[in-house]
Amino acid sequence: MIPALIRDEVAALHEQIGRANRAYYEFDAPELSDAEYDLLFRRLQALEAKYPELQAADSPTRRVGGVPATHLPKHVHLRPMLSLANAFSDEDLVAWEQRNAKLAPAARTAGYTLEVKIDGTAVCLTYARGALVTGATRGNGAVGENVTANLRTIDDIPLELRGTGWPALMEVRGEVYFAIEAFRKLNLRRVREGEPPFANPRNAAAGALRQLDPAATRSRRLRCFAFQVVPIDGTLAATTHHEVLATLGQWGFQVEPHHARCPDMGAAIQRIAELEAELPSLPFGADGVVVKVDPRNLQEALGNIGDREPRWAIARKFAPDVAVTRLLDIGVNVGRTGALAPYAVLEPVELGGVTITSATLHNEEVVAQKDVRVGDWVEVIRAGEVIPKVVGPLRERRDGSEAPWIPPDRCPACGTPAVRYPDEVMRYCPNPLCPGRTLEGIVHFASRDAMDIRGLGEERLRQLLEAGLIHSMADLYQLTVDQLVKLDRFASQSASQLVAAIAASRSRPLSVLLYGLGIRHVGKTVAQALARHFGSLDRLRHADADAIAAINGVGPTIAAAVRAWFDEPRSAMLIDTLISHGLTTVEPGERAEPGALSGKTFVLTGTLPTLSRSDAAVRIERAGGSVSSSVSRRTSTVVAGEAAGTKLDKARQLGVEIIDEAELLRRLGPPA
Ligand code: IVH
Repeated sequence: MIPALIRDEVAALHEQIGRANRAYYEFDAPELSDAEYDLLFRRLQALEAKYPELQAADSPTRRVGGVPATHLPKHVHLRPMLSLANAFSDEDLVAWEQRNAKLAPAARTAGYTLEVKIDGTAVCLTYARGALVTGATRGNGAVGENVTANLRTIDDIPLELRGTGWPALMEVRGEVYFAIEAFRKLNLRRVREGEPPFANPRNAAAGALRQLDPAATRSRRLRCFAFQVVPIDGTLAATTHHEVLATLGQWGFQVEPHHARCPDMGAAIQRIAELEAELPSLPFGADGVVVKVDPRNLQEALGNIGDREPRWAIARKFAPDVAVTRLLDIGVNVGRTGALAPYAVLEPVELGGVTITSATLHNEEVVAQKDVRVGDWVEVIRAGEVIPKVVGPLRERRDGSEAPWIPPDRCPACGTPAVRYPDEVMRYCPNPLCPGRTLEGIVHFASRDAMDIRGLGEERLRQLLEAGLIHSMADLYQLTVDQLVKLDRFASQSASQLVAAIAASRSRPLSVLLYGLGIRHVGKTVAQALARHFGSLDRLRHADADAIAAINGVGPTIAAAVRAWFDEPRSAMLIDTLISHGLTTVEPGERAEPGALSGKTFVLTGTLPTLSRSDAAVRIERAGGSVSSSVSRRTSTVVAGEAAGTKLDKARQLGVEIIDEAELLRRLGPPA
């Protein structure tokens, strides 16, 4: 009989690990530190080893976490992409070697190759005759997301291989990562723009790879190291792993330079200790050292444990930097979009060589889940991550004086009641004119990708706000040269230039204005989709959430945020003022009037003879229609091409109109 307590614990572990996997893989927003995750995972493994009856077929120990995100096309890997087992001590490494020796005795003396474990996101690059054909994320190991267009923007990934000797068809695996400097800059910008910072470079890299717009990926300046070749058709001359790395370098890939071949485990353990000391000063995040059995024939002999991990490689992980200190207070930051983000105010403590006084607490759910109270002693870690975070309280040190934290029900900057939107973990200040977000908000409004007002940076804006000349972005359009020249550091030429630059921004297109307004979830791509679809601000502000949600690439969460923004009376006021100052409220080249397909919802399925799916979608939207990804009773028309599948069946079932491309083109009329 298995005690009920054990059953409950296993069920709870499934739930916790599943939740952590989803947070990590689907939302790029981990809720647990690696150390916490490992602890849960190993506890579940231990219980399953002791009570094999409890190992369910869908146990998280049986598969690599993560389900492919839905907005990107899927890619089936030609061979499964595996994860790695962890070794937390030298003893763990020796035990691994002993287990391997039972299956392949030669492995003990055949040498190991050590590599830095890069803290990024795994990618699989398919090359046919030396040319990159597909690039994908790992996903669940069997099926990932096709992100070829995004990967092609990464300079470290060769599009055509140099040299010779590649298998006619092969997969090259590697890690896409952020350089620490680029990551730091990205997070600074995010915080300035009111978005939560990424917890670590790995999640930032995963997020950057899954952008819908390749230009957005390119702008993140991702890097890539390659470390594995999987021949599918043809063979590889290299007989050892260190030769594989040299070959990858010759073909034009970047290979992490700290790799080393060690004759045996003794030498490997010594070199690992040296590498451990070097990891923190590398220009990218590194979270361990990977030990690989060097000869490829022995790798083959050792094989894999299911589709989860190879026997021939293991990751040696190190304990994270941990410090214990007092949580003095929980502060709340107001971001540009109004997000109210809690952070820990800490008694200064040294962590990994620097003194820290604050740490992220992510959002109020995390505070509640970890039960962190003001006055607690807390454990703070930094593990290959730039931003320190609170692991949790030391409950045994409580004396009863600790106070649970109550999230603010009003914005700390302007006092407006905070709001919570369904399915969101943050509370928001809904006031677009909130002084807590004014400076950052106007900096964003004036920034290059938004209204592009040259000469209006943060310092100037601070000066204008302090002088009381502006209170919101709308006030910019009333500034005069006379007002400006009275301020410090404004000569008459720079004053006229600024007034001219502000005036010129009036004619920026609607998409840019929408982006500049700082509406939650409305980045550049979404702003463009909204502007293209509706054509005018007037049509957008009166559209209902369903109509907004039906736009390709938008969906219900974004639609709700857009609707909520326009419903807020102070937003309406802001918009009216901007209009009265003569700002453009249309998207050039788009019809402001309802088009031929106005009000109709289309679903595209199968391969169309001449139009790509995205071209078809753009043309339908230009004609006033909308495109949705699934067929329902609300679908007006399904456009079916070659090899159309379940969507076509569903359309037949529901009696939805079905047409082909020729008919679609006829209804669209001649292109604009
Ligand atoms: S080898 C079958 N080598 O770590 C062997 N992985 O925790 C597969 N990683 O999925 C991996 N640096 O994304 C290998 N030098 C390295 C690595 C590395 C980072 C990642 C990789 C893997 C994950 C497992």
